[in-house]
This record gives sequence, C-alpha cells and structure tokens, in this order.
Amino acid sequence: MGSAMLRAAWWTLRGLQRSLVPLSARMSSNRTDRSYALADKVAVITGSTKGIGFAIARRLARDGAHVVVSSRKQHNVDRAVAALQGEGLSVTGTVCHVGKAEDRERLVATALEHYGGVDFLVCVAGVNPLVGSTLGASEQVWDKVLDVNVKSPALLLSQLLPHMENRGAGSVVLVSSMVAYVPIPKLGVYNTSKTALLGLCKSLAIELAPKGIRVNCLVPGIIKTDFMQVEKTLPYLLPDFNDIYGLFGEPEECAGIVSFLCSSDASYITGENIVVAGYSPKL
Ligand SMILES: NC(=O)c1ccc[n+]([C@@H]2O[C@H](COP(=O)([O-])OP(=O)(O)OC[C@H]3O[C@@H](n4cnc5c(N)ncnc54)[C@H](OP(=O)(O)O)[C@@H]3O)[C@@H](O)[C@H]2O)c1
Repeated sequence: MGSAMLRAAWWTLRGLQRSLVPLSARMSSNRTDRSYALADKVAVITGSTKGIGFAIARRLARDGAHVVVSSRKQHNVDRAVAALQGEGLSVTGTVCHVGKAEDRERLVATALEHYGGVDFLVCVAGVNPLVGSTLGASEQVWDKVLDVNVKSPALLLSQLLPHMENRGAGSVVLVSSMVAYVPIPKLGVYNTSKTALLGLCKSLAIELAPKGIRVNCLVPGIIKTDFMQVEKTLPYLLPDFNDIYGLFGEPEECAGIVSFLCSSDASYITGENIVVAGYSPKL
C-alpha cells in the first residue's frame, strides 16, 4: 500500500514537472524515433539548399527517403548535396528555379533518373522581393511573387503527377506562412501569396484524393533563416511581433512534421494547414 502511494505520488510529480517544462525547452524535432518511416521512398524538395528546405531534406533522408534537393544556384546545390552525402544520406541534387518550366522538367528528370520515381513533393521555395505598400507594388512584383510562391508548386506537381500516380500513393507538402493568417504590414503581396497557398492546398487535396495523393500545408511562424533576417527586420515590420508570436523557431523544428505528413502515419490527413509557430492565434 505504501509503495503504491509512493508510486502514485511519483507519477503525479512527474506529470506536474512535465506540464511546467517551458516551451523554450521543447523537444528537438531532430529525433528519428520512427526510424526509416520513409524507407525506399523518393522525395523531391524545392528551395532545399538552406534554411527550412535543407532541414526538411536532411530529416526526410534520415528517415530513409532518397532525396532530390534543388535551388537556383549550382554552388548551393553542390554544397547541400555534399553536406548530406557526407552524413551518409541518399541525396542528389540539381539546379531548379521553380519559376522556370525547363528547370522544373530537369528536376523531375533527375528524380526519375536517380531513383526511378517520386513519392513526395515538398514545395519550399518562396520569395519576397518587396517591403512596401501592397497597392504600390508593380505588376512585375506581383507576377514574380505569384509565379514562384503560388503557381510553381501547382505547375511542378502537374509535371510530377503521372509519376506519383504510378506509385499508387503520394504526399505533397506546400509551405505557407503564419502571415497567411496574421499579415505583416508592408509584406502585402507576400502575405497574399501565402494565403493563396492555403486555398491551393484545399483544392488540390480534393482533386488528388481519388488518386491516393494527399496534400497538406506547413505553416511556419518566424524561423531563424537568412530569409527572415529575424533580428534585423522584424521589429521594424511588426513591432508587436513578440506579443503575437512569442517565439522564434529553428528550421529543424519544421522538419519532423513534414516527415510525419509524408509517412503512412498521416494516411488519413489531407487538406490540412498545420501551424508550426510556437503559438498560433488562429482558431
Ligand atoms: N524563415 C521564416 O521565418 C519563414 C516563415 C514562414 C514561411 N517561410 C517560407 O519558407 C520557405 C523557405 O524559407 P527559408 O526561411 O528557409 O529561406 P532561406 O533560408 O532563404 O532559403 C531559401 C531557399 O530557397 C532557394 N530559393 C530561393 N528562391 C528560389 C526559387 N525561385 N526557386 C528555387 N529555389 C529558390 C534558396 O537557394 P538559391 O538561392 O540557391 O535559390 C534556398 O535554398 C519560403 O517559402 C518562405 O516563404 C519562411
């Protein structure tokens, strides 16, 4: 009886300690407890030579997938491939500016040539060329942002679709942003493109469900990468950012959820927009 009470007290204390663990001590998403959940699968990832895309590439490869990394600059591709191959991971790469049809074709061809098919597409590449008024944006800026951020995932997927269909199942992950829900002033065109991705995710999920292809959206908060240059730009763009978001994330903290969404553990999940932002004000 005494030892049962002690055990109960110990479990209660343990539970309390767990609930008091600060968010800043949250678990690293580098864990690979579900080792080789993606074994023998093939993943194509755009914008994956640094930042969030690179972390996703590393994670999917660690979880057993063959990974094709890509971005606009050859030296970035070479560096990323060398780094990941140096870790013993099955990775190749090619240059792919997602806004260019011929580059997208080369990306598809590279995957087929090296690994014989494609199971997963993760669309990470995104741009924001403008800090300024939405209505002051030129047509050129609108075209560039919508081409790269919104149109290119759909166009690349249309090129990959026959090959994904051949596999009988597949998973697509788009990368949106919390600005889709909480727009940052002066980033109106970018905010709009990221909101459009939430809609694209829903439409594609319905369209591709009969083919066994799931489509979900990763919605990161503020992640410490070159893209955001967090410390320098955010306090100016969004003085209250700390009240809204609270925490900055690491690229690796976006990677585990993408691996999960690609895996068969997520077989009943499609059309979802999943926030990885420390905290989310959306319901
Ligand atoms: N960082 C954040 O706080 C945050 C938050 C929410 C959402 N996001 C989204 O996450 C994605 C990645 O951002 P990140 O922070 O990881 O950026 P990052 O560290 O600057 O990395 C961007 C990557 O994309 C490549 N890239 C850029 N333009 C491209 C294009 N047109 N075609 C193909 N590849 C291209 C870059 O390589 P090259 O220069 O060689 O092309 C690089 O590999 C973006 O879609 C962004 O909107 C970021």
